Amino acid sequence: MTDKLLRGRLLTFHRAPQNGDDTGAYTYLEDAGLLIRDGMIEDTGPFETIRAKARNVAVTDHRPHLMMAGFIDTHIHFPQVQVIASWGSQLLDWLNNYTFPEETRYASEEHCQLMAQAFYDQLIAHGTTSAVAFCSVHKASADAFFAEATRRNMRMLGGKVLMDRNAPDALRDTPRSGYDDTKTLISDWHGKGRNGYVISPRFAITSTPEQMEMAQALAAEHPGCHIQTHLSENKAEIAYTKELYPQARDYLDVYQSYGLLRDNSLLGHAIHLEPREIDVLAESGAHPVFCPTSNLFLGSGLFDHGGLSARGITNGIATDVGAGTSYSMLQTLNEGYKVLQLQGQSLHPLQAFHWATRGNACVLGLDDKIGTLAPGSEADVVVLNSSATTAMALRMDRAESLAEELFVLQIMGDDRAIDEVYLNGTAQKADTVTRPARVATLA
Ligand code: GUN
Ligand code: ZN
Repeated sequence: MTDKLLRGRLLTFHRAPQNGDDTGAYTYLEDAGLLIRDGMIEDTGPFETIRAKARNVAVTDHRPHLMMAGFIDTHIHFPQVQVIASWGSQLLDWLNNYTFPEETRYASEEHCQLMAQAFYDQLIAHGTTSAVAFCSVHKASADAFFAEATRRNMRMLGGKVLMDRNAPDALRDTPRSGYDDTKTLISDWHGKGRNGYVISPRFAITSTPEQMEMAQALAAEHPGCHIQTHLSENKAEIAYTKELYPQARDYLDVYQSYGLLRDNSLLGHAIHLEPREIDVLAESGAHPVFCPTSNLFLGSGLFDHGGLSARGITNGIATDVGAGTSYSMLQTLNEGYKVLQLQGQSLHPLQAFHWATRGNACVLGLDDKIGTLAPGSEADVVVLNSSATTAMALRMDRAESLAEELFVLQIMGDDRAIDEVYLNGTAQKADTVTRPARVATLA
């Protein structure tokens, strides 16, 4: 039995805050103890109370910083760590000109392993302790993704993309090979340690109806696996989808007709929706995922968080690196705030921090395991420094409430505000995060 006692300010959510005054939605302690036993949260409370129950346990003092559950990113692309910040195009050209050529490099096992290390280093540096990721079409990319997550003891979800058309030859599987590789990956990784497999038809444009049928079979055979894809991100994408699936009533109907909508389905973007699609989302329990930095970067459009929420739909929020422009969930909340401002909607910092932690955990159906600091949860913790830069410290001098502090973190914070990260109870920044090996030689 290994025990660890963390001391610092502590914030954890019990439910989604209705508004900025909803103090019953969370617990905030000025001087808290967080007792970790064998990688799990054993107890939290006022420091002296927890200390009295754990007299011989070494204390790590994080005061004056703020301990929260680690951030959860519900949509990110592992093979796009070297695509981020590629200039000048909207979705379909961006895929063809930058993303697909880059993903062909993941045919190499060695490249997958090197990039998996770089990917997890970035997540951890930015305070993200769990994520849902698309791998490339290559089985080796998913093997490397899960092997590295296992090595780091990180709760990760992901899957190899299914794509058998409208992509370079080197990036196409077949309905049969995509099915077989996915079956093997599920059997090798799903439910092993902290890993979860996600059935991942990339999007309607890159799958034939035959492949969609195979995805349907996989989904029916594995109800415990999540499903992820992309939906209605861009108007040209929607028009092309309707050409490719002329019988579909709308874009979502492609996924609906192949049985891919259920309460563990994640639909990236979901920006340009028709009324019928919103009805179906509400009935199916599937979750749209808001990707603000990506939606702005590719000029895709404004996600209607308020409208969908009013229909009882629960949205995730995510970076979508490499169309997304930052690994930071703080920067994602920053841009999310602005996207909602453009639509006359508001995102209070308490709601924002709930969303990036417990909210996303609820979207994944994993809130009993991650997303809060409740006893019994896995000890994935982020320690935030709201005065990490001089500019933040200047602003913090004038902050008078927890909400104000959170808003400073939301708007000005990034990896510099991440003071420490615990994965399953093990500190990451203190000594174990390595700089990625130099991966390219610049001419
Ligand atoms: N739609 C299909 N593939 C992708 C992708 O890699 N990124 C984004 N943003 N949209 C997609
Ligand atoms: Zn995406």
